[in-house]
Amino acid sequence: MKKILEIKNVSKKFALRKDNFFSRQNYFTAVDNVSLSLEENQTLGIVGESGSGKTTLAKLILDIEKPDSGEILIAGKNISLAKGKELKELRRQTQVIFQDPYSSLNPRMNVENIILEPLQINNIAAPEQNKILHSLLNSVGLPQNCLKKYPHEFSGGQRQRIAIARALALKPKVIIADEPISSLDISIQAQILNLLKEIKDELRVSYIFISHDLSAVCHISDKIAVMNKASVVELAGAEELFKNPLHPYTQLLLNSVPDADPENKNEEIKIIQNDSNASPTCAFAERCPLYDEALCVNENTLMEVEKNHFVKCILSSREKALS
Ligand SMILES: Nc1ncnc2c1ncn2[C@@H]1O[C@H](COP(=O)(O)OP(=O)(O)O)[C@@H](O)[C@H]1O
Ligand code: SF4
Ligand SMILES: [Mg+2]
Repeated sequence: MKKILEIKNVSKKFALRKDNFFSRQNYFTAVDNVSLSLEENQTLGIVGESGSGKTTLAKLILDIEKPDSGEILIAGKNISLAKGKELKELRRQTQVIFQDPYSSLNPRMNVENIILEPLQINNIAAPEQNKILHSLLNSVGLPQNCLKKYPHEFSGGQRQRIAIARALALKPKVIIADEPISSLDISIQAQILNLLKEIKDELRVSYIFISHDLSAVCHISDKIAVMNKASVVELAGAEELFKNPLHPYTQLLLNSVPDADPENKNEEIKIIQNDSNASPTCAFAERCPLYDEALCVNENTLMEVEKNHFVKCILSSREKALS
């Protein structure tokens, strides 16, 4: 399959506020040496707790933030080097759906204008605009008579459908959905997930689906990257990751997924603080139940422990090698 997006060794740090003019400038690393790729018509899930760097990574792909190092290639072209027409075209290829459809839609614009705006900015001819508008309403399951209505007249789920239609307007190759169901009622979440799945097959787009909720990510993704403290700590096919999580952090996330069957109730998330004066060697050391001072050296790269299953944990990779 053809690669539509490649993220190569990308890092991004932010300057922290200084105490005073003379104090030293400190930085916070939000994305640390991340490498990922996405193929055509594929969904890459990115999962991790709040603050792990998921949105920053999305902003780097969308060219809202610039990486300090590394490269982001869209359809083989480096977005940091593109200029003028080429940059506009690359930006058009990646669109975003945000978490909160209440604040991401302009309350003063009606549905017609919200969906048409990106087409107008890109000078799409008027008859073509109308054709696209009506087919988008069909694709996202909104009635044709909703065009003159304003966002406040819709439910959360319907607003997210409007946001999805707008994101699809320019026929992007990649849609980044950043926590797209987190603010919706549970009953609506499955509908939006299913809609995204249908659209993927109908329009052959690729998704980056970002969430702190591993069960939602597993439901929609072909492969999943688990992020912790700015790094990808595990990367595998969705099914494989669910069945065979290797990194202690992924295991922790999986144990916190609620089970639908009450007989089978999973334990609540257990964050075991390591009191053995955790060394800064492995970034997960202070929370890791398996931490071993003698063995847990820092691993800067993901190790392939099985075909297409990568992990950044020296113990699990060693264990795998011995088994
Ligand atoms: N513009 C910024 N300036 C300073 N720190 C930032 C900025 N954007 C994000 N961060 C910090 O980077 C870390 C990762 O944030 P984010 O990418 O939003 O994580 P996530 O989406 O996984 O919750 C957070 O600690 C956040 O406070
Ligand atoms: S290297 Fe050690 S501390 Fe780090 S995740 Fe693996 S077992 Fe835990
Ligand atoms: Mg976020």
